[in-house]
Amino acid sequence: MISLLNQIILQIISLLPKKIVYVFAGKYVAGENINTLIEATKEMNNLGYDVTIDILGEHVKDRKLANEITNQYSDIYERIQLNNLKSNISLKPSHIGLDISYDYCLTNILKVAKIAKKYKNFLRIDMEDSKNTSNTIKLLNEAHKYYDNIGTVFQAYLVRTINDIKKLNYKNINYRLCKGIYNESSEISIKDKNDINDNYIKILEEGFKRNHYIGIATHDTKLLDRVYKLIKKYNIAKNQFEFQVLYGVPMHGWLEKHLNNGYKVRVYIPFGPDWYEYSIRRLKENPNIIWYILKNIFGYK
Ligand code: FDA
Repeated sequence: MISLLNQIILQIISLLPKKIVYVFAGKYVAGENINTLIEATKEMNNLGYDVTIDILGEHVKDRKLANEITNQYSDIYERIQLNNLKSNISLKPSHIGLDISYDYCLTNILKVAKIAKKYKNFLRIDMEDSKNTSNTIKLLNEAHKYYDNIGTVFQAYLVRTINDIKKLNYKNINYRLCKGIYNESSEISIKDKNDINDNYIKILEEGFKRNHYIGIATHDTKLLDRVYKLIKKYNIAKNQFEFQVLYGVPMHGWLEKHLNNGYKVRVYIPFGPDWYEYSIRRLKENPNIIWYILKNIFGYK
């Protein structure tokens, strides 16, 4: 029933003019250009939050475009430096060429990582759907041979993740842990929400024991309660983790609570002209986001 309703709402959204869709989607993106992005980043920094910047878009099949995006990412590091911003960058491998070829994508990642290194900054490779998981980990391991200022993301809904983090084998391991946004098959992923949360805690515990630096990326307040207990149980140092959230998602006092505890909080800010296509594609992949947005707009708990 819910999934039929999701499909109907999705159809309606797809028919609405872009301007109307922006009323809903705009809350979660920092506009279309670098100036609106810089403003949003400054605003977050002034509130005490670090930022990670993402240019919206994915699955680029054209080398010219993938080159342009790679250059844009490099330029953003310069803008971060010039504006004295507290921000790193998160990028999707398929945005800079993974759908074209693995080697080409690696070359582009190395280009961006080199600029990040020049500015003493950090690059995170977002994790896309499970078709790309092995290649993304391979990109990370390869790139790490040249640059240590690079990390990735692991998804708690994937059965393989606990083994993936155990296999990481280099200094300065730094990853974001999220639940996972894509629609994966039950053969490789956990479907039950409580089981995903249990697995999240299991992976986090394993990562902490191994002294990994972890970006704890969730808006789930029940999960955050469990994370706080874990941090207390093992007396985890404040410099071994940070909390991460998506721009615009209400957190009902949790961000202030994190800051008051002296914990670092990083806000993921996406921006760019591709916001419409990206938002619609995301909604198609995971129509449950529609309910998050409606819930947030009308303030339901
Ligand atoms: P849960 O799904 O239980 O959501 C808890 C509550 O948060 C919801 O009830 C809703 O109120 C709010 N909420 C969550 N997501 C929302 C959204 N998109 N819009 C509006 N409200 C929302 N995934 C991935 O596969 N690869 C990646 O690289 C990343 N990167 C990433 C970075 C950061 C900083 C975050 C916070 C998340 C990601 N994700 C991701 C997405 C992640 O996998 C997951 O799908 C969402 O964070 C939702 O899961 P929660 O843990 O928030 O819990």
